[in-house]
Amino acid sequence: MQVLAITSQKGGTGKTTLAGHVAVEAERRGGGPVALIDTDPQGSLSHWWNAREAETPVFVQTLVERLPDDLERLRQEGIKLVIIDTPPAITSTIVEVVRVSDLVVIPIRPSPHDLRAAGATVDLVECLNKPLVFVINAANARARITTEAAIALSQHGAVASSIVHQRTNFAASMIDGRTVMEIPNAGRSAAEIVALWDYLSNRLMRLQSAAAGEQEVHGAALAMAAQEPERAVQWTR
Ligand SMILES: Nc1ncnc2c1ncn2[C@@H]1O[C@H](COP(=O)(O)OP(=O)(O)OP(=O)(O)O)[C@@H](O)[C@H]1O
Ligand SMILES: [Mg+2]
Repeated sequence: MQVLAITSQKGGTGKTTLAGHVAVEAERRGGGPVALIDTDPQGSLSHWWNAREAETPVFVQTLVERLPDDLERLRQEGIKLVIIDTPPAITSTIVEVVRVSDLVVIPIRPSPHDLRAAGATVDLVECLNKPLVFVINAANARARITTEAAIALSQHGAVASSIVHQRTNFAASMIDGRTVMEIPNAGRSAAEIVALWDYLSNRLMRLQSAAAGEQEVHGAALAMAAQEPERAVQWTR
């Protein structure tokens, strides 16, 4: 099981929109079962989920104090991916969420104001030594500032190659608990989410392999250490 946090201290960057869309896409593409957690007191993601008819992804109520225990329970129940939406502020909640995450997604609108505001979120994630990825959201087609934002952000971390553009169907689809992949005539928006999940799932897979590799090296080191006393005895003979 892997945990994906979606966070940015700036309000309205698209955290909740991307949490819902990435969760549904991951489920559609076989990356599930997916569980959603909303740690924002505004509760936008839970409102969206309550309006949703489809049974997946599942929604999990938790409290930040219980988060590590609840994540362990979800792991044992067979959940493969947990996506956590967070409030627009640097709070102790965000610190705890980032601490338990495998990858942190920072949605950002391509504007100078949003770029300036991203620094605090990046500092927090780096401080906790977690991998991050910026997702440019609500971009205007052909605007030069989008390219400029991608270049500026790439100096601070990975930028998802799939950009999500500003389109009313992202907002409209969520009114009744759906996503752009689940409404008619939203092909271009849906294709962006498909590409975003391609990028994120690849990144998650590489993180999982790296973690497995580290565990193998650690296991091999422990096995060698366990043999040490025997070898020491042989050498002294
Ligand atoms: N790509 C997009 N195209 C059009 N509208 C969008 C897009 N992404 C987000 N929005 C709209 O922008 C507003 C803010 O998005 P959202 O609620 O996802 O941001 P947020 O970061 O979760 O906000 P908050 O910080 O308040 O939790 C919403 O009305 C949403 O429908
Ligand atoms: Mg939100």
